[in-house]
Amino acid sequence: MKKRSVWFRGVFAGLAVSAFLLTHGARNIAWAAGHAYTGESKCEDCHDAKHEALKDIIGPDGQPGANPVDVWNQDKHHDAFNNLTNDWGKQAAAKAKVSDPQADGSMCLKCHATGVGGNNPPDPSEGVSCEACHGPAADWVPKDKHGQIGNDPSKMAAAVALGLIDLRKMNVREANCRACHVKDVSLRPCYRPSEKPFDVKNDTKFRHWRNNIPAI
Ligand code: HEC
Ligand code: HEC
Ligand code: HEC
Ligand code: HEC
Repeated sequence: MKKRSVWFRGVFAGLAVSAFLLTHGARNIAWAAGHAYTGESKCEDCHDAKHEALKDIIGPDGQPGANPVDVWNQDKHHDAFNNLTNDWGKQAAAKAKVSDPQADGSMCLKCHATGVGGNNPPDPSEGVSCEACHGPAADWVPKDKHGQIGNDPSKMAAAVALGLIDLRKMNVREANCRACHVKDVSLRPCYRPSEKPFDVKNDTKFRHWRNNIPAI
């Protein structure tokens, strides 16, 4: 636990988003104390192609009729664990002196898997799955805890207290992405200078949400 929170503080400080930590410290502490993870398959109960709540969701092609599960299955975040051993992964692992990037305790898994070091994380082979962005879900996953937020700020606050990350707020979203999307090679041995600079709005490849969701 201690090690992980130090790692997080390092990442955030390096990114000069300490203002975020000051305002959202409570959430991080609650998270360190341990909302449990539930794993991606739980989300399939309601957020795959078979379920009706999702008719208006726009996919990577800009068309409605998408669903989060199919989009994620085709997204790079889904392959983040498998790709650790590709050619670039091997070079990055050698640079960081990591003998097996997929082994338990490998530093690579902090960003290439979900919830490592947290409470009941999914198997790392799941890669960067739903809860890496939306927050550990065991406490908020029931439909009446997160599926009826609508435009009600108090319902959002209640879900956030249970571990949901409010990605509707762009500053929260960006801080969440940037915990992994860093350039500092001492934190991220796989960084390539040729990489496109991270832009939180570069999300069309994994888009899976409606238009005009109001920030509340
Ligand atoms: C029992 C059904 C159910 C399960 C299981 C479920 N959801 Fe939902 N979720 C819903 C419904 C219903 C909505 C509301 C959809 C709408 O407004 O059209 C929703 C909305 C959401 C929203 C939008 C919240 C907001 O209003 O800003 C997110 C994010 C979300 N779900 C993520 C997840 C994730 C991640 C999982 C798995 C950990 C999950 N859900 C599991 C039913 C479910
Ligand atoms: C838990 C760490 C983590 C979080 C959180 C995260 N990402 Fe990623 N992201 C990754 C990893 C790892 C990859 C590379 C996966 C691969 O190629 O194997 C990636 C890949 C991507 C790519 C694909 C890059 C390309 O060249 O195609 C985009 C775009 C992206 N992320 C955007 C985001 C955005 C926007 C957010 C926040 C809403 C976010 N990511 C949150 C770890 C993360
Ligand atoms: C601090 C977070 C972080 C850590 C730690 C990390 N990665 Fe990554 N990795 C990322 C992100 C973010 C991307 C996607 C960047 C992009 O495309 O914008 C990525 C991309 C990759 C890719 C795909 C890039 C490509 O161009 O093929 C490989 C392979 C990779 N990482 C291997 C590793 C290995 C091996 C380790 C451990 C030695 C590691 N990573 C540690 C965040 C991380
Ligand atoms: C890389 C980060 C990332 C991953 C991984 C991710 N999401 Fe999302 N998700 C977002 C962002 C950003 C939004 C848009 C803001 C919002 O609606 O909260 C979003 C929105 C949603 C919504 C709300 C749609 C709406 O119109 O209100 C649902 C439902 C959802 N995601 C479910 C999932 C499920 C299920 C998974 C896994 C199969 C998943 N997400 C994986 C970042 C992610």
